[in-house]
Amino acid sequence: MADSPSYPVRDGLRAAADVAAAHLDGVAARPVWQPMPEQVRAALLDAPLPETGRAVGELLDEAERRVLAHPMGNGHPAFFGWVNAAPHPAAVAAGLLASASNPSSAGGDHADVPLERAVVRWLAQLVGFPHEIGAGLLTSGASMATIVAIGAARHRALERAGWDVREKGLAGAPELTAYATAEAHSCVRKAIELLGIGSRALRTVPERVEKVGDAGDGPVSAGMDVEALRELIAQDRAAGRVPFLVVASAGTVNTGAIDPLDQIADVCGSPGGEGGVWLHIDGAYGAFGAVDAQMSARYAGMARADSLALDPHKWLQVPIGVGALLVADRELLRSAFSLVPPYLRDESGDALGWLSEYGIEQTRQFRALPVWASIAARGRAGVAADVAACNETARALARIVEETPDLELAAPVELSIVAFRYAPAGVAPEQVDEVNAALPAAIQERGAAFVTGSVYQGRPVLRACVLNPATREEHARLLVAEAQAAGAELLVGATAH
Ligand SMILES: Cc1ncc(COP(=O)(O)O)c(C=O)c1O
Repeated sequence: MADSPSYPVRDGLRAAADVAAAHLDGVAARPVWQPMPEQVRAALLDAPLPETGRAVGELLDEAERRVLAHPMGNGHPAFFGWVNAAPHPAAVAAGLLASASNPSSAGGDHADVPLERAVVRWLAQLVGFPHEIGAGLLTSGASMATIVAIGAARHRALERAGWDVREKGLAGAPELTAYATAEAHSCVRKAIELLGIGSRALRTVPERVEKVGDAGDGPVSAGMDVEALRELIAQDRAAGRVPFLVVASAGTVNTGAIDPLDQIADVCGSPGGEGGVWLHIDGAYGAFGAVDAQMSARYAGMARADSLALDPHKWLQVPIGVGALLVADRELLRSAFSLVPPYLRDESGDALGWLSEYGIEQTRQFRALPVWASIAARGRAGVAADVAACNETARALARIVEETPDLELAAPVELSIVAFRYAPAGVAPEQVDEVNAALPAAIQERGAAFVTGSVYQGRPVLRACVLNPATREEHARLLVAEAQAAGAELLVGATAH
């Protein structure tokens, strides 16, 4: 590699592409994850600020050795952790072009702006959400999409109550209340806190909890209890509060459960009607499940939401940093967020205005190109096949879990998340819980499969999420074998002390 700081552009980019390709090609042959060697962590942490520059070739060598060699593990077919996908190679390549072009996708007359509007429409079309041009935007992730959605919901509710929150803030405003189950993702509470509404105003809607299976001793299914929601809203209204928001899940983070969206939309009076409560659906993980023909009926009612958050950087396999918000009425975003000082004024006459008027960010990353590439490389049919493959692998994993004596399913499998536990017969529930709480780290350290844990209905579980179409039944079997082996070791340790 050349070693002068003026390393030619083309050589640098080709070398970077080679490093990236070698990394992607080699993922499956490496351990899924290994703890960082202490000296590598220290070298990164303590890296001194360089006084002088170095050649790009040298930097790439170092990045390959010190950074790419110690990955998180998502990308490996035996990675089942959190909700983190393998990047689609077409989207990785497009990401390089997006950085090279480097526009601010705030707005203006350049290609990234109409492309963002088009891919937002594609997202809506993929999941079956009604769309008028401009009714949505790409964000950094679903947490940001949720802040934007709840900000708009807050604005609409208070405006209807005769209170301009943009001018007056929240002190003295009508008291808002919001509703979600305990299974809602933490980003909902974060947004409620951040927007000054206060988590006290976020009511926890009880769930309908049932044990499925003929003998009533099977996995536990839970979804929002719609009658309880109706009741809570009525109580708050009677007390003079302003119920303004219901957040439902189209695929919870713990188990992939889909709330009864249609019935919830009935309670909210969605879409948009006078006196209606804003229905926001968190489809960050699960909305793309709707492209699987076998699953689409489960999403009935999703199209009635006022807003839908979804994460291309999850099931769509776009490299991390891309979420999206779709809304039923684009003007609601603009009225909540548009702020156009003279130095940003748009003279183009574009009736849609700037994308930065629809959310929080001003200078905006060019996120549309990797999203475009991820979809265009596969088409709707290819995306659907990949999503369906993940669901199929999850069903296979669930079946293997059920067939394995020491394991049990914790929740029915709807999409591609499988919550299960190591629970050998005759072991006390407290000890089962103790072992399962320690199990994710024990499996991770073995290096063959990577899974994370959670707590579902009060009990620790292993929670495997399949987002990589290359993850197949053989990897599911490997995970089960690892869970059994690590579980047995932990149990011996637990009985010994
Ligand atoms: C169901 C659900 N909602 C919201 C989020 C938050 O999304 P993000 O991490 O993109 O901000 C996640 C992330 O895993 C999720 O699984």
